Amino acid sequence: MPGAIYAEGLVKTFGEVRALDGVDLDVPEGSVLGLLGPNGAGKTTTVRVLTTLLRPDAGRAVVAGHDVVAEPDAVRHNIGLSGQFAAVDEYLTGRENLQMVGELYQMSSRAARARAVELLEQFDLADAGDRPTKTYSGGMRRRLDLAAALVVKPPVMFMDEPTTGLDPRNRMLLWEVIESLVAGGTTLLLTTQYLEEADRLAHDIAVVDHGRVIARGTADQLKAQTGGERVEVVVHDRDLLGTATEVLHGFSKGESTVDQHTRKITVPVSGGAKLLAEVIRELDGRGVEIDDIGLRRPTLDDVFLSLTGHVAEEKSEAQDEAEPRGAAGGKGKKERG
Ligand SMILES: Nc1ncnc2c1ncn2[C@@H]1O[C@H](COP(=O)(O)OP(=O)(O)O)[C@@H](O)[C@H]1O
Ligand SMILES: [Mg+2]
Repeated sequence: MPGAIYAEGLVKTFGEVRALDGVDLDVPEGSVLGLLGPNGAGKTTTVRVLTTLLRPDAGRAVVAGHDVVAEPDAVRHNIGLSGQFAAVDEYLTGRENLQMVGELYQMSSRAARARAVELLEQFDLADAGDRPTKTYSGGMRRRLDLAAALVVKPPVMFMDEPTTGLDPRNRMLLWEVIESLVAGGTTLLLTTQYLEEADRLAHDIAVVDHGRVIARGTADQLKAQTGGERVEVVVHDRDLLGTATEVLHGFSKGESTVDQHTRKITVPVSGGAKLLAEVIRELDGRGVEIDDIGLRRPTLDDVFLSLTGHVAEEKSEAQDEAEPRGAAGGKGKKERG
């Protein structure tokens, strides 16, 4: 029996661009699928097809038991969508926005009011609840948008990059909300560019690139698929980064990365601690002084690199939804990029 979200061979082209090139998905009821991929991979297009906002050129999808093309209304009745495009009315307060959604879904005004209070509380918006939302920061808007998608507690939820551009505090808050939602039995498809986010929230991960699912599995399975451990070396002298890279290439079992800025070289290896000693000896022999060296398990970043040959952190220019500067400890930027 297909899961709560099922897709087979979805294709969608925009002119020359093949945004979806045969996407297959199967998300069991009550589980979380993380759709992980860089900008332009086809994540939003997938979500738009599954939420009936876009008709696929080919393939088929069933959400909450209904075909997205043949029965779009039935699908819409069973899903919630929190998008990159926030659907809140700027001139209404947060409270009014939430109440309005409830009433649109035919809740009584009393029930809609009560639900709005509950959600404002849960999303840490109680104090701002009676301010027009145009005064909200990016993080507050994002939280309100997510709250709006949860007014009617749909059995199947879609969240398109819910935390992109948010500062660490807001990201944590959203993670907690998402976790409590999932604990309540909601099936969730979540897209993200953040590998750590998929690792933390998703039961299963589908890695997408160029409109195709290029790998799937649990975070652990994907890491295992990427093979053994990584040696990380921080070179003391930037001028010797090239020499050190040469040395490490001799031990490498796959794609390696060199970060000029942090003077860090990472290579996949097999051989464990014994190998570490050899690496140190050889670097020493070539006169390379090191600040740090270590062995670690592969992360999802490594998974992405080994699958696609590029890292997953190619952020868009459009990070317009970040918090205003100085809001809460700066942006959640990663070092690599
Ligand atoms: N409405 C559209 N018109 C033309 N091209 C589009 C449209 N929507 C998406 N695309 C293109 O399709 C590809 C996938 O986009 P998208 O699904 O938004 O990726 P993601 O959400 O993973 O960043 C990109 O190359 C994008 O430029
Ligand atoms: Mg997108």
